[in-house]
Parts: sequence; structure tokens; C-alpha cells
Amino acid sequence: MIHGMRIKDGKAAYVSRFVRTSRLKQEEFFGGAKFMKIGDLKGLFGLLMVSMQILRLKTKVLDKSYGFGTGNTSLIYHNGKLLALQEADKPYVVKVMEDGDLQTLGLLDYDKRLKHPFTAHPKVDPFTGEMFTFGYSHEPPYVTYRVISKDGVMHDPVPITISDPIMMHDFAITENYAVFLDLPLYFRPKEMVKDKKYIFTFDATKKARFGVLPRYAKDDLLIKWFELPNCFIFHNANAWEEEDEIVLITCRLQDPGLDVANGAVKEKLEKFVDELYEMRFNMKTGVASQKKLSDCAVDFPRVNESYTGRKQRYVYGTILNSIAKVTGIVKFDLQAEPEPGKRKIKLEGMSKASLNLALVDLVQRLKSSVNVIDAKTMSADPVAVVELPHRVPYGFHAFFVSESTSSARTFGRIVMNSTQKIKKHILVTHNKTNSFSNNHWDEDARLSRACLIVAGEDLAKRRPRKPQGQARKDSHAGRPESSHISQGQLIPSSWN
Ligand SMILES: [Fe+2]
Repeated sequence: MIHGMRIKDGKAAYVSRFVRTSRLKQEEFFGGAKFMKIGDLKGLFGLLMVSMQILRLKTKVLDKSYGFGTGNTSLIYHNGKLLALQEADKPYVVKVMEDGDLQTLGLLDYDKRLKHPFTAHPKVDPFTGEMFTFGYSHEPPYVTYRVISKDGVMHDPVPITISDPIMMHDFAITENYAVFLDLPLYFRPKEMVKDKKYIFTFDATKKARFGVLPRYAKDDLLIKWFELPNCFIFHNANAWEEEDEIVLITCRLQDPGLDVANGAVKEKLEKFVDELYEMRFNMKTGVASQKKLSDCAVDFPRVNESYTGRKQRYVYGTILNSIAKVTGIVKFDLQAEPEPGKRKIKLEGMSKASLNLALVDLVQRLKSSVNVIDAKTMSADPVAVVELPHRVPYGFHAFFVSESTSSARTFGRIVMNSTQKIKKHILVTHNKTNSFSNNHWDEDARLSRACLIVAGEDLAKRRPRKPQGQARKDSHAGRPESSHISQGQLIPSSWN
């Protein structure tokens, strides 16, 4: 499910649509879930699910040839296409309609050059317009790296040699390198059955390995591997080069705690440690080092994407509690000096308490809202609030795309097709019921200013008033995911 919000001329339009994957169409035909889900892959039940899927594919009850994923993890914009991503599958192209509605155009296989899974977290270089991506698999090669040109041509696959099949959720790029994370979250189907475990098993005795490869390499002969103490990482903030070193800013987990994150275990994760770290890999000496930057649990880090692969100052992220639920958002200044007597950098986060109150209130009312936050001040008082017509559940990631010059410079011409142009600003959130985390706040000083101009200009002139909430007639009647496009005025946070 994608939740999309289009903000233009002080008005917001909201819509939610499923990504129309082959999987969804097949399951609609059968009237229920038929493909196995990753959360099912635990113990004997997991074995049963795998066996059933193999049988259904062999007997052609199900068809994987046009993809089998849900396209519901993350979004990225490249070469004029908005892509819905899930790491086990290929990208799906989603068109943003004139009125903000979303339409799935279909699977993208780059002229049949893409034959392996495609990460939910590819990187677009803001200076070259190229996209860098990878996929991981439980069969060799366990990791495959790809470069996609500015105009969407996928280069040849580069297999990355690692010893075991693992989960690699994210990677990073710098101006000249790609950074791969060989972390000990192993794909272990035998242990799943024997030890009644999840199909991915974390081995706390193994080192964390980081591979740095020249980013246009044709093979992995020049990759340099570095070792650091055991950990897992879902998301990196950014990476860049400093003299002989590669610097990686990342959210380091002491233990991924997948059972808790997946909802299988309700109690608190005992050793839930997910902190912002700076890791350094010296390409000359081969030495790796790391230092902790945060004193709170933080993940889903984002930076101004104009600095992807380059040194940047600010990192935005979500504050997590002991069961990995989001309790607030936070901004880090990487150039700030630690306060005297403290080794950690200063937090510039929103007031946790006030945000907690707001979240509790929204949860109790079973309602959701989009809050426009000033990324410069990170004030807990939102610049504007858009109340949504119904509750939006916890999801994975969010993405913000605009017609602003920064996007145009980065990606070239922003055209969805010959007649449909992206309007001024679109905020797309990507959600799934019962998933384990909240959305990104994909804000940065520059982009958020662009966003706030829309709200601020109008809000300065307009008397605060209640959102209109006018329901428009749905041109997609009959679709289960949304009955209408809702439109309402942006309202300042002072409205009550
Ligand atoms: Fe992610």
C-alpha cells in the first residue's frame, strides 16, 4: 500500500493505493493470500509454507514470472520513474496522476537485464544522476551489484563474493566507491526447522564485515574487506571519502531482534541497542574503526539527498523505544562538538514528551496526520498539520519528490508520461499494516524549506480554519484500497 499526499497551493490531497503487483492480482483472483510471507518462515510452519509455495508454483497455481513481491518497502525516483521497491523482487513503476492519484504501470526489469532481486534502498548519485543498486539471494552469487546510468540503462552484473547467504538490507555509495555490509544475519532454512527459529538467524559470535569496491568495477577483485565488532545494520545514513578513509554514518544494532520487530514476541527486547555510529575504513592501512554518536535508539536515518555519497552535516532519524516503536524524530549535527564531559554529540531533537503526547492522542483517536516540521529548528510545534481521513498504520519508509530545481537537476526532466506532470510537491508515504516501524521524515533544510514555502505563503495570508475534507468522486470505484481522494486545506498547528 502506498499512501500519497500531494501538496499544492496550500491544499493537500491524500490517496492510498495498493501497488498492483502480479502477486496482488493473483491473490485477488483466489480471494486470499496464497504466496508465502517472510514472517511465516519460522519453525515447521515455515517449512510447510515453503513446501506449499513450491508445489503451487510447480503446478502453475501460482506464477512468479512477473514478480512475486508486494512493492511495499520503499520508493525511489530515477530516470523519470517513481519506483516501488521490496528487496525480494524487482521494482514496480508507479505513475502519479494529475490529481495526485497513483497508478501502477508494471514491473521494471531494465530490458530483461535485471534477473535478481533489487534492494529497497538503491542510491542515486546527485551529481551524475546514476543509480547504484544490489540484490541479495540465498543462492550464489549471494550478492549482485549493479550500476544504472542516468538514462536508465542497467550495466552488467557484478557478483560480490561472500561466504554465506545473508540479509543485506542497505548499502552505501561515496563519490568513488560502493560499500557492502556482510553482517551475520544468515539465511538458515535448516535451523529454522530444527531449532524452530526464524529463517534468518543472527550469529552474535561473528564479526561484522564491510566491503569497499570501486563503484565502476567490473568484478569484485578490487574489493577491500574490513572487520568490526559483531553487529547488524538495517539502514545507513550516508557515506563519503576523507583522504584515505571511507566514512560511513549508520544505525548500528547490537542485535536485530527480528522476533520482536516482527511481532512474534511481545515483550521488550532485552538488549535493544540501535545507535548512530561513525565507522571509518582506511583504504591504505586496512584498519577499521568506529565511534558511537547517539545516546538514544535511532533508526531510519535520512540526509539531504543532494549530499548522497558526499560529506554532509545533518542526519535526521526516528527515536525508537524498547520494542522498536517510533516515539519521536531527531536531528543530529555531525559537526557539533560534544558538550564538556560528554563523549556524544548534541541532540537537536524535538521534545520527546510533546511528540509522545501527540502520538498517544492520535493513536487513541485512531487517526493519523501529516505534520510539516521545520527541519532547521526541529520545533515540536509543526508548521502545518494535515489531518488524514482515516488512520494510517505503521509503515516502512516515506519519500518526498518535488518539481523543485534540486530534483530537476538531480534526475533530469520530471515527466511521468507525455501528458502528466508532477505538480508542485508530492509526499508519498509507504505503509503496511503491522509492520515494525514508522515512516521516514524525509526532510532536510533545503527540501523542507521548499515544502514550507507552499504552506507558509498561504498560511501567512489565511485565517486558520478547519480542513474542508471534501471527498471527490473516485474514478477508480471498486478498488478496495481507497474509496476517494480526500482534499483538505493545510492547517497551521495553532488551529484547535
Ligand atoms: Fe529499509
